[in-house]
Amino acid sequence: MSKFYITTPLYYVNDEPHIGHAYTTILADVIARIKKLQDNDVYFLTGTDEHGQKVQEAAKKRNVQPKEHVDEYVKRFKATWENLNIDYDYFIRTTDKNHTERVKQILADLYKKGDIYFDEYEGLYSVSEERFITEKEKEEGNFRQIKKIKEKNYFFKMSKYQSNLIKHIESNENFILPKSRRNEILGFLKNDLNDLCISRPKSRLAWGIELPFDKEYVTYVWFDALINYISAIGYNNDNEKFNYYWPADYHLMAKDILTTHCVYWPTMLMSCNISLPNTIFAHGWWLMDNTKMSKSLGNVVKPLDLADKYGSDALRYYLMRNMVLGQDASFTIESFKKRYNSDLANDYGNLVNRIFILISKHFENSIPEKGKYDLDDNDFIKNIENLTNLSTQNYSNIKIHDGIENTISIFRTVNKFLEDKAPWKTIKENKNIAGTTIYLSAEALRIGTVLLYPIIPEKSKKILNAMDCCPKDDTTFGFLKENSSINVIKNIFPRIED
Ligand code: MSP
Repeated sequence: MSKFYITTPLYYVNDEPHIGHAYTTILADVIARIKKLQDNDVYFLTGTDEHGQKVQEAAKKRNVQPKEHVDEYVKRFKATWENLNIDYDYFIRTTDKNHTERVKQILADLYKKGDIYFDEYEGLYSVSEERFITEKEKEEGNFRQIKKIKEKNYFFKMSKYQSNLIKHIESNENFILPKSRRNEILGFLKNDLNDLCISRPKSRLAWGIELPFDKEYVTYVWFDALINYISAIGYNNDNEKFNYYWPADYHLMAKDILTTHCVYWPTMLMSCNISLPNTIFAHGWWLMDNTKMSKSLGNVVKPLDLADKYGSDALRYYLMRNMVLGQDASFTIESFKKRYNSDLANDYGNLVNRIFILISKHFENSIPEKGKYDLDDNDFIKNIENLTNLSTQNYSNIKIHDGIENTISIFRTVNKFLEDKAPWKTIKENKNIAGTTIYLSAEALRIGTVLLYPIIPEKSKKILNAMDCCPKDDTTFGFLKENSSINVIKNIFPRIED
């Protein structure tokens, strides 16, 4: 058994979770479930980023203390993940004592080592992104609420590690994925790196982890939050656990936080003499009317509203199927309904109905015995096997949308097979032939349902249970037991009518 450690970003608790947060978290959950089915020892980490200016401002707006605010909002994230069937192993909050202690310890170590120093700095500061930016970054136009700040602060010697970072990226092809993001970071690293300002004076921002060597300052929220990936698994606390799970196999996120993860984080790790994560994977954005969905733009869709109305599996399915990993995708209610009706209600749901009805009507609720295969049957099996292999391969390469499409093709192939073979007609002349057709169709349905389990765990389990099977079952053709009994289930994906 090998370990597999996967993380999501820690979401700011300045507002409610939205579809964008749900996407990354569901994606991590899907990958974690795939790895668990393959018998890996999976550790799936998510959580909340609770310090910093954004959170302090959100609390101020509500007229409550920051701690009271985060305690209340963290519940909304946890409730959302529960409703979306997110099976994480650990939920970390950056206000947890275990985390704050680790951050202080690292700060103290790096200060002692000379990698953190005190200096006065005058520069451009983006309030929305909570970081100092360069003139060039300002010109590129991706930062908002920019002001000029002159301040005494503590700095991390990020520049010291620039050439080692470049070497690491160049010699590890999968360190930053997709490839386009890797090139983006290598391009960024062609310019000299500035050192990283890692403190904020308390006079400007009080809500943070106090620096262990200066009571007048708190830690910059990113320097604090990134450390979660190691504090959560026992760094400097439970060495056995830490050595087992680290390095992380996947840090998942969207492209908005690529630099912090691909530049700040690896250089911080280098300074601590800790190995780097295996893969940092940045997906695209969910857009609403061609702009990024974000809390500050006020154009968010609340995932719970959709999940409440149509079920968590429907939302999980849509998000996983409609985003080509690495690219942006547009969220619309119309595309959600269209996808649900065509794939889940029509191709899949109708097939489930058809097969269960045929078995209950003609075979007294038990899987028919298979007879001799004819040429069409052999072709059908080959097709299903090919699609199964493709789907499994795509899942392994994190091409989830392609893997899903292969699985839906399995269902389309079965629907066509049933139409061609028309067992409802042949049953009158030859029950054995009809039984073979139905067995083969039920078996392909079972395989497709096992493949969809990581995406739609609730419905998939329900269908498999009704066939006396389970998600961990083999996907090789012929695994389905003849004469095993079924429980008829009806209308598993009811059509969404306008
Ligand atoms: N707190 C930092 C992350 C610290 S990690 C050590 C942060 N938080 S956030 O709440 O803004 O979350 C950003 C992440 O949420 C993105 O990287 C992505 O995973 C997810 N998304 C937020 N909006 C999104 C879209 N519109 N589309 C896709 N994912 C989005 O940054």
